[in-house]
Amino acid sequence: MKIIVTKSYDEMSKAAADVFEKEIRNNPELVLGLATGSTPVGTYRELVRRHLENGLDFSRTKSFNLDEYVGLSGDNPNSYRHFMDEHLFNHINIERENTHVPDGLTENPKEYGKKYDQMILESGGIGIQLLGIGSNGHIAFNEPDEELPVGTGLVELSEQTIADNARFFQSAEHVPTQAISMGMGSILKAGKIILLASGEGKAEVISELLNRGKVTSRIPATFLLLHPDVTLVCDEEAYSEVNR
Ligand code: PGA
Repeated sequence: MKIIVTKSYDEMSKAAADVFEKEIRNNPELVLGLATGSTPVGTYRELVRRHLENGLDFSRTKSFNLDEYVGLSGDNPNSYRHFMDEHLFNHINIERENTHVPDGLTENPKEYGKKYDQMILESGGIGIQLLGIGSNGHIAFNEPDEELPVGTGLVELSEQTIADNARFFQSAEHVPTQAISMGMGSILKAGKIILLASGEGKAEVISELLNRGKVTSRIPATFLLLHPDVTLVCDEEAYSEVNR
């Protein structure tokens, strides 16, 4: 795993956007794997700026998002489809039909998950995948457990994740308890992975990830250690517990 430690959240966001910009300029038809949450907001802001000011062109790119809450339609303000529209898609020139966020209203998550993975394959596969990390080590909504899903499908949110995400909802009771999430296998098929982490709330899990030297389904992010091209881009606060 390559590691870039930055002084601040803004620098982390710029460093991640630098990698995305380089990859998109090299391959204008790049398939982007995208993430939601607080952490990637600055990266999207920076990509929007580069589109508006420097002509970074998304017109031939495609995108696939990691996950969506079960029960939320795309126009619900708490849905990840809405998040992506607000933070990125509405401000760049990607074709709407080329953007994919899992359908939180699907009636058959198993079939839908297979179809989603198949669509990714048929698009040529994800060239670059952006990831955040949960304070419990989850990647997308692959929560710590004895086993981890390989493909996309229905997952249960952990209590920790519900507590962490309650800040976006009226209260913890309003957070959906299930999601459609890309599986660890779907994620590990990406050509290149950028893992973001910011703030002291992530310091413990980043130190676990880097100091442990083992993979464990109890910290799903450790599976990223098996991928040949992962770059962790994090700020000093998130890195502060490493090597302690
Ligand atoms: P956050 O979430 O960016 O809001 O901290 C990260 C994640 O849960 O993957």
